[in-house]
Amino acid sequence: MDNIKDRIIQLTKEINRHSYNYYVLNKSEISDFEFDKLLAELNELEIKYPQYKQPDSPTQRVGSDISNVFTSVEHDYQMLSLGNTYSESDLTDFHLRIVKELKTEPEYVCELKFDGASISVKYENGIFTKAITRGDGTRGDDVTENIKTIRSIPLSVSGNNLPDKFEIRGEIIMPHDIFDKLNAIRIENEDSPFANPRNATSGSIKMIDSREVAKRNLDCYFYYMMGKTIPAATHFESLRILKEWGFKTSEHSKICKNIDEVMDYIHYWDIERRNLPYDIDGIVIKVNSFAQQNMLGFTAKNPRWAISYKFKAEQVSTKLISIDYQVGRTGAVTPVANLEPVQLAGTVVKRATLHNADQIALLDLRIGDIVYVEKGGEIIPKIVGVETHELHSSPTKFITHCPECGTKLIKPEGEARHFCPNSVNCPPQIKGKIEHFISRKAMNIDSLGEETVAQFHEAGLINNIADLYKLTKEQIIPLERIADKSAENIILSIENSKKVSFDRVLFALGIRYVGETVAKKLASEFKSIESLAAASKEELIAVDEIGDRIADSIIEYFSNSGNIKLVADLMNEGLQFELTKSEKLSDKLSGLSIIISGTFNKYSREEIKELIEKHGGKNVSSISKNTDFLLAGENIGPSKLEKIKKLNIKIISEEEFIKLIEN
Ligand code: IVH
Repeated sequence: MDNIKDRIIQLTKEINRHSYNYYVLNKSEISDFEFDKLLAELNELEIKYPQYKQPDSPTQRVGSDISNVFTSVEHDYQMLSLGNTYSESDLTDFHLRIVKELKTEPEYVCELKFDGASISVKYENGIFTKAITRGDGTRGDDVTENIKTIRSIPLSVSGNNLPDKFEIRGEIIMPHDIFDKLNAIRIENEDSPFANPRNATSGSIKMIDSREVAKRNLDCYFYYMMGKTIPAATHFESLRILKEWGFKTSEHSKICKNIDEVMDYIHYWDIERRNLPYDIDGIVIKVNSFAQQNMLGFTAKNPRWAISYKFKAEQVSTKLISIDYQVGRTGAVTPVANLEPVQLAGTVVKRATLHNADQIALLDLRIGDIVYVEKGGEIIPKIVGVETHELHSSPTKFITHCPECGTKLIKPEGEARHFCPNSVNCPPQIKGKIEHFISRKAMNIDSLGEETVAQFHEAGLINNIADLYKLTKEQIIPLERIADKSAENIILSIENSKKVSFDRVLFALGIRYVGETVAKKLASEFKSIESLAAASKEELIAVDEIGDRIADSIIEYFSNSGNIKLVADLMNEGLQFELTKSEKLSDKLSGLSIIISGTFNKYSREEIKELIEKHGGKNVSSISKNTDFLLAGENIGPSKLEKIKKLNIKIISEEEFIKLIEN
């Protein structure tokens, strides 16, 4: 038994060391395969011999299925915030106050001010024990289980002078690439995207299911050690020690000998921050010597020895010319501001989203107003306030009827948005549904596009997706810009789409909240559209990842006689409404995570993805240590290639892939 215990201890240590190398130092000594093998071995041993599981076991990183309850706990040391300045003259005042108090010029440490969520983490005897959010500074929420999933935060630390108990503070962040991917998935699933990485981070650390947090790939930088026994005389030295013990600290922190060097640091990062892979919203300036920090002390809210210099969110003012109302394929009405064109953060801004009626009312926006437009961490510019109202203006009245079809708008309970309920006859809803249906990830009818859909609709040829299958070559040839050859292509690719698998047909129907992933799940659980349509709410939510909202939407879809008729029409046309036996072709790629990139010759990307799945493999969208190989087409982005090479992931070509599945 002892050797099993020893093996568990050894594996725990070894895996944690590899994790540290990879997530903190950005280098790895072993391949993903070897890493996974070690982890699988440890997992198996821990299941058999739970009594030997170590408190810093890396198997905790995947989260658990126990729902989180976030109890409020008191901080041992208050979590203070920093005083803010937005101007260099304020910063000079801060410096002069300090010089006056200390009677000498101090040395400063300048650091990036990470724009995320602050966290306090406690260690006892070198083991991670608790993580608490900032809360109101005095009390925060215990988010320990979620924070343990962040792989750059050590589960155990060791080193010289490690105090028995200590607490350190840092900022959890979501890097841009992870944020972009998360939002792309949310948009696809019709969840509202996060406005910026900061919101995505705070949302993530408060999730009920820690397994989901583990998938969010958060990161953390530490910048402050608390406690009575700090084995250092300066802040900079404490950062060095933190790093030595195994914590991730920023490589950009710098000692500045005087206030001029502080200003240089600020000027440098005001520009250079655009090249960082995560958001910062300013610079933190701290007196380096702890003795001097003690002399300066604290106000009720802030330390007197530190301050944050906030970068200005780039903001300009311009005139609100008009408000358009756009109707999407679900009937949701989005107000969009038309602005007098203005330069902002390197681009010309002409439009800004206004989200919904409440937002317009909140800002009391009126046509002709001079408004402030800002591009902060947000991707789309937004109106943040009104500088001056237009003379004699009156408050904006949100439209009451659909600008496209004239139907009276509704505002369902609990929804912030207005909707046009005329889903069958409202042109943008019709066109939007058809565009979604033909899109790449749905039916992939690539001979049609937005323009042809509009053209066919206006010619009275298509009013719903089933009409596509009734089109004839003779009907479309007379239309403008449709040559004989392209008419043929169109009819042929519509015909070919009848072979598209059930899960994609289900996604193509455009049922609210049924994105690509949900459709796959539903198809494999219910096998046919009949059994899906007959499923009760209980049966639906019993499926992993299907919640109330999706279940309600599916039930609503199938309780509408128009939708039932549409599905019946499509069925008559011969579309796939059940899983076919041929769908599983082999197990040749079983257990393999494959990422595809670039363009291919023999197959489309969608077809390649389908082949991977039909042969038992898993198509993944982001590169990680767990990716088995990259299926490389032509024109792969250089950054992707570099990442693949760095991680030592095997690359295979389209031909090699075809051989692999055919042999
Ligand atoms: S030091 C007592 N350093 O900014 C001083 N804070 O209002 C503790 N932050 O709550 C904070 N980067 O969430 C410090 N390099 C950095 C930081 C940083 C981001 C956040 C932190 C804090 C807020 C200050």
